[in-house]
Amino acid sequence: MTTKQIGFNLFEMNTVGHISHGLWVHPANTRHRFNDLDFWIEEAKLLEAGLFDAVFLADVIGTYDGYRAGPETALREAVQIPSNDPLLVIPAMAAVTTHLAFAATFSTTYEPPFAFARRASTLDHLTKGRFGWNVVTSYLPNAARNFGLDDEVGHDDRYEIADEYLDVLYKLWEGSWDDDAVVRNRENRVYTDPSKVRYINHEGEFFKVAGPHLTEPSLQRTPVIFQAGSSDRGREFAAKHAEGAFVGGRDLQVYRENVADIRRRAVAWGRGPEHIKTYASAVIILGRDRDDAERKAEEFRRLSSAEGYLAHAGGGGIDLAAYPREARVFDILQAENKAGRDNAQSGRRHYTPTTTVGEALDAVTAFDRSPFYAAGSATEVADAIEGWIAETDLDGFNLRQFLTPGTAEDFVEYLVPELQRRGLYRESYEESTFRERLFGQGNARLFAEHPGARFRGGANLQVDELQRSA
Ligand SMILES: Cc1cc2nc3c(=O)[nH]c(=O)nc-3n(C[C@H](O)[C@H](O)[C@H](O)COP(=O)(O)O)c2cc1C
Repeated sequence: MTTKQIGFNLFEMNTVGHISHGLWVHPANTRHRFNDLDFWIEEAKLLEAGLFDAVFLADVIGTYDGYRAGPETALREAVQIPSNDPLLVIPAMAAVTTHLAFAATFSTTYEPPFAFARRASTLDHLTKGRFGWNVVTSYLPNAARNFGLDDEVGHDDRYEIADEYLDVLYKLWEGSWDDDAVVRNRENRVYTDPSKVRYINHEGEFFKVAGPHLTEPSLQRTPVIFQAGSSDRGREFAAKHAEGAFVGGRDLQVYRENVADIRRRAVAWGRGPEHIKTYASAVIILGRDRDDAERKAEEFRRLSSAEGYLAHAGGGGIDLAAYPREARVFDILQAENKAGRDNAQSGRRHYTPTTTVGEALDAVTAFDRSPFYAAGSATEVADAIEGWIAETDLDGFNLRQFLTPGTAEDFVEYLVPELQRRGLYRESYEESTFRERLFGQGNARLFAEHPGARFRGGANLQVDELQRSA
């Protein structure tokens, strides 16, 4: 089978209930401590001891108020509310670790790029090159209303904005300062050589940004770019920009096709197929043996909140519970499409034309129906992982949490030694920047074929368009 080493990120969010709804009530769950810096410090130490690639912080900037026409369920069930800013816990975690990386989510739709460029560069400095960014365009209608709009920006338009947003960032991160701009010459009283710093003078359809970037070049300059788009437009965006792409699908076969698809598309953008790492969500429940794991899974099932999952699913605009169980989801999506929502488009991929509301509801609440689900002993789970990696060509997983710190503790205690024994997991950290962890020593910066690299040294600052080859 495969011998490639598998990367794991802990799937996190600066909130109580990320995607395992209802489990905050479990007596061993410490999610309610998320306001406390010690919660993050303890987690960072645990993940570094377990040789995780990164902690992956999701984020939304609105609330899920599409279910039962209000935010009450989300509030009662702690569905991603209350939640805090994901970027702000990173320096504390970086201070107690030397290798663990941090991938945080930030949306390109509502806040203009200049301030984020600076925040990201600051984090890359403070973490010594361990910062990654999960680019999202935000799907919550409530988010739009929080940032001065009456309704969501259309799906594909959000990606158009994101595309220009990234160009602005690349210009600031890659093109505005030369590597040797900061000279710190006490004798000549020159801190920064002004001839090596430039305005970017970006003027596009959505943004006008003069620059120069306010932050000097950090170890990685551009943080490692992650993206999880699954629509056609989203995949195209990922293929162009992402260095880590999340793929989805109904089953292993679809995952395999989607991994191949994203690599093919990356090549069409002039990138190497190996310059984009692919990840899937992993639902893993480990125990001393199979019975122990099954007992945990049963407990998680019992404590799961169907209402919480529905509030989460309804947040995209479809309130499944408002329809009879026998109604077909496709018909509903079609009807909702009239309102211009993009969910019809993205929902279509998750349902067959005959899927009923009842089936969809059952699926939405059943974590054990996730495409990658493994509950059992370390040997059984490692077998499942090894099989999936070999069959799909995935590079890694985001580990979903049921309990904090329990899920990660079980992973470190049971699974890491077993994966190491099989040569599928690192024995120690080698590289220190995030990008080098993914792509090897000497690759702290973007590959030359990456679209961000075309602004290096101030080149192409007036050129915005990068053409896809086919
Ligand atoms: C692993 C994973 C993590 C995601 N994290 C977030 C997130 O933190 N915030 C967010 O707004 N969307 C998040 N998304 C949603 C994606 O950004 C994207 O909108 C979604 O996959 C649908 O793709 P599309 O926009 O191309 O239709 C995530 C998706 C996946 C698969």
